[in-house]
Amino acid sequence: MKLFEETTQARPFIKWVGGKTQLLDEVRESLPRDFAERKHFTYVEPFVGGGAVLFWILQTYPNIEYAVINDINEELICTYRVIKSDVESLIEALSIIQDEYSRLDTNARKEYYLAKRALFNTKQTSQIETATLFIFLNRTCFNGLYRVNSKGEFNVPHGKYANPRICDASNLIAVSKVLQKVEILCGDFAQTGKYANTSTLFYLDPPYKPITETSSFTSYAQGGFDDSEQIRLRDFCNQISTAGALFVASNSDPTEVHSEETFFDRIYNHFFIKRVSAARMINSDPNGRGCISELMISNVINA
Ligand SMILES: C[S@@+](CC[C@H](N)C(=O)[O-])C[C@H]1O[C@@H](n2cnc3c(N)ncnc32)[C@H](O)[C@@H]1O
Repeated sequence: MKLFEETTQARPFIKWVGGKTQLLDEVRESLPRDFAERKHFTYVEPFVGGGAVLFWILQTYPNIEYAVINDINEELICTYRVIKSDVESLIEALSIIQDEYSRLDTNARKEYYLAKRALFNTKQTSQIETATLFIFLNRTCFNGLYRVNSKGEFNVPHGKYANPRICDASNLIAVSKVLQKVEILCGDFAQTGKYANTSTLFYLDPPYKPITETSSFTSYAQGGFDDSEQIRLRDFCNQISTAGALFVASNSDPTEVHSEETFFDRIYNHFFIKRVSAARMINSDPNGRGCISELMISNVINA
């Protein structure tokens, strides 16, 4: 089954580590069986990242009338806001960059990339420029990673793709349409707690707990997401659940590597935990890819 239709459906406009496109069926399975019939729902995604679940859910369930998204990454959120409010100017700026970049040879492309990266890191750019640079860097950097150093500077090297699609105008227009009913917040996940009530569904996809020493990838933004943050998130799940909200949360499964590492089974022992299979980069595998289980934690009875 095709999860996103080619042209009319909005899809994630960036590559983002931990993108959930392949877990959408599992998210669907975790919702109440009668979810589509429940009226006037609000969807809340406190760690929106690339928005794979956001775009899928808003285009699949018309009973979701409103949505709230949040992320701590300021440039990412600026990009969502620009797509919502001024997609035409963004498309114009991206087409110019696409044109300039595609004419260059490999060395000149690298220079061009480094100059744009330096401009992005000045943090002195207008909102349109920030969004344009954010998408350009994501499309042309190594593996579409987003990583910052201790000073908060984006430091991913150039990616050398032959023909990166920098300006995907039809998708940006589709994304902009979907975002018209979305409130866009920037900051810590806790600020979305005030939306929790009996007509809200939360999907939480935090930075995962690293399951091997080398698998740590939590620097989407300055500051990390350690075990005390995971416990703060558990407390947040208690809070929204007590307020009557439905929630589904994803995380890594540390028992994959050490069977006694039952951290999530312990801290979420009063909720439902399902182990689902996901294709992921695994460092212990010489080819770097394989299938491992991930956790879907929820307070939905039929999950
Ligand atoms: C695993 S990614 C989300 C992946 C996303 N669901 C997708 O499909 O692409 C985690 C996100 O959490 C954000 N983040 C990290 N710490 C946060 C915090 N304290 N509050 C809100 N967002 C945070 C990161 O910027 C990152 O975008």
